[in-house]
Amino acid sequence: MHNILILGSGGREHTLAWKICQSDLCNNLYVGPGNGGTSSVADNVDLDLSDFRQIAEFCQEKSISYIIVGPEQPLVDGIVDYFQKHHPSIKVFGPDKQSAQLEGSKDFANQFMAKYNIPTAGSKTFDGTTLEEGLEYIKNSKAPYVLKADGLAAGKGVLIIEDQEEALQALKEMLGGKFGEASSKVVIEEFLDGIEFSMFVLTNGKEYVILPEAKDYKRIGEGDKGLNTGGMGAVSPVPFLDKVLLEKVKKQVIEPTIAGFAEEKMNYTGFVFIGLIKVEDEPFVIEYNCRMGDPETEVVIPRLETDLMKLIVAAFDQNLSTKQVKFTDQSACTVMMVSGGYPEKYEKGKTISLPEELDGSIIFQAGTKMKDDKLVTNGGRVAAITSFHQDFKQAVSKSLRLAEKVQFDKKYYRTDIGFDL
Ligand code: AMP
Ligand code: GLY
Repeated sequence: MHNILILGSGGREHTLAWKICQSDLCNNLYVGPGNGGTSSVADNVDLDLSDFRQIAEFCQEKSISYIIVGPEQPLVDGIVDYFQKHHPSIKVFGPDKQSAQLEGSKDFANQFMAKYNIPTAGSKTFDGTTLEEGLEYIKNSKAPYVLKADGLAAGKGVLIIEDQEEALQALKEMLGGKFGEASSKVVIEEFLDGIEFSMFVLTNGKEYVILPEAKDYKRIGEGDKGLNTGGMGAVSPVPFLDKVLLEKVKKQVIEPTIAGFAEEKMNYTGFVFIGLIKVEDEPFVIEYNCRMGDPETEVVIPRLETDLMKLIVAAFDQNLSTKQVKFTDQSACTVMMVSGGYPEKYEKGKTISLPEELDGSIIFQAGTKMKDDKLVTNGGRVAAITSFHQDFKQAVSKSLRLAEKVQFDKKYYRTDIGFDL
């Protein structure tokens, strides 16, 4: 039995806490800082994710043996390195700072994929000293132009532009500091035309197990229109990921990725989230993330029948390859309820009322908090409603019926999750 701390405050962390609190290995469970939902399955603790010393003090006080890191920022900032150096008995599930560059630097990820022959878009990287070459490169390429800030830019760092003049202007602005340090280098990529899906792998850098796949819906509007968000919904499994495509993903992407981790001696015990695009019948990687996705977690983890904590412990104990992963063949779908105005300006502090009868569905809370015994909104993405059914369309309908019953001022959600499947 272990005392476990989950870091983060979104729907992803509520889902991880919901799963881990059911584990035979879980004694006391804490979520820092958590949200209104995590407090129903764990103890919330007011932690600052950039203050590793404060986190370490809390862990010592509560005899924490495992930390599971939800979001990427603490990983990119080196939380794994900090604990390995100062508190090696506390195991932090996630890659070290260098390995987190797989998400933290598009250029690093592209070099890794090139070295290990992992299929991805052709690309070239430019910085302030090679602006002229970058402009020339755009002039000699075909639209649409894909420009990516090299570093983390809160999900806003990828621009896909039709017009050449606009692309030239965008490159100048990005290298001129549009996304601060994150766009001091810009990756220009070939545009891949296809349908996206994501794979999730749990690894210790040598061994791995594959978790259920998912497809998320990033745009705010129906039919995938409008601004990008953190994610408005997701489904798992992905109907077009058939045996043949899955086999290609395993052989061409997952196996060489983990072989690359081993070859590079990467210090990586954690989740790998691989964003893929199917072009005709072939998989291409568009990004690596060094953590689970949100809201993908809200459909992937509920489908997992295996004890997640046993997999995490096995990863640290170097016996992951002996583990079988079981998941239900039922489809899961999640519909994200957001505050009106999101992803731009929105209000917080609206009273939330949740339906009593959930009929097998689960409401994972995201931007919520308890205020004087009342649940109120505290973010753009408020709650993800996950439902299950043999037919994913029925699962979506179940979530939509519940979404009508969730009440808060200016609530909004997409009704077309899975529309393209
Ligand atoms: P990323 O932050 O790398 O996931 O990119 C954000 C979104 O941009 C992805 O989810 C894709 O929809 C799109 N995208 C990224 N790279 C490409 C590419 N090379 N070709 C087409 N679309 C892309
Ligand atoms: N849903 C996309 C992400 O978590 O990055």
